[in-house]
Amino acid sequence: METRILWGKELAQATIQKVAQEVENSRNQGKRPPGLAVILVGKDPASQIYVSHKEQACKRAGIRSMGFRLPPSTSMDEMLNLIKDLNRKEEVDGILVQLPLPPHLDASPIIEAIDPIKDVDGFHPINMGKLALGDEGMVPCTPKGVMALLDHYGIEVEGQEVVVVGASNIVGKPLALLLVNRMATVTVCHIKTRDLASHTQKAQIIFTATGVTHLIKKEMVPRGAIIFDIGISRVRDKILGDADFEGLQGWAQAITPVPGGVGPMTVAMLMVNTLEAYKKRVGLER
Ligand code: GUN
Repeated sequence: METRILWGKELAQATIQKVAQEVENSRNQGKRPPGLAVILVGKDPASQIYVSHKEQACKRAGIRSMGFRLPPSTSMDEMLNLIKDLNRKEEVDGILVQLPLPPHLDASPIIEAIDPIKDVDGFHPINMGKLALGDEGMVPCTPKGVMALLDHYGIEVEGQEVVVVGASNIVGKPLALLLVNRMATVTVCHIKTRDLASHTQKAQIIFTATGVTHLIKKEMVPRGAIIFDIGISRVRDKILGDADFEGLQGWAQAITPVPGGVGPMTVAMLMVNTLEAYKKRVGLER
């Protein structure tokens, strides 16, 4: 069996291009550009790279990005005051706080301080709650990017046995909800799951987001499975995924590569969410 590689790079580029076109149309009608505030606390090297990718995408999409790079010593009060300010700013449509935060900053009150209409990450309890109720407004970017890839490659999940490995608030949980909303039969596995392989062996589609290098191997999945690799780990300067990409060649029906698969879609979906927030706020919606 030839394993199909499900690239995300081209779709991400095309998506950003579409956002850029909509922004240009809006600008031609005399409107201000969309604005995205990106807050990065501390010097985590991976976060710095992600934030710079987000800022570069803003440039391509015609979105004005406002970067706030804060020292690791930033206090909760300083964070909450900054978010309050950004909530009030007319020209700011989206507010993103890059995670993880330093250990002394609890993410929950910070995320809850963001005006839900500006919550382009979709992490606010109101937006997560809506997602759980099947009202998909601001949906977290990585799971939304996965769904866009499923659609692009014509992969139907309704009625399928699917497994989500990893139950984070950022990826695993919202992804499981999106899949349930599409009527997939969803099993969520996580760090306390006793026998991971017993679940993945029954799945037609496996979504893995753990950051554990090569956790998912050929022996653990049925022949012809489709694998969405949402994990990222670094091993000696190399970026690797959760799936043993080489070992799964000729066994899996299809697999997303790392890098170049789901990753670029996260950034593209952030542009889509920012455009959506902007349209709501400037009253452009048809
Ligand atoms: N850290 C890892 N992924 C994400 C994301 O999608 N959004 C934010 N804000 N932080 C992250």
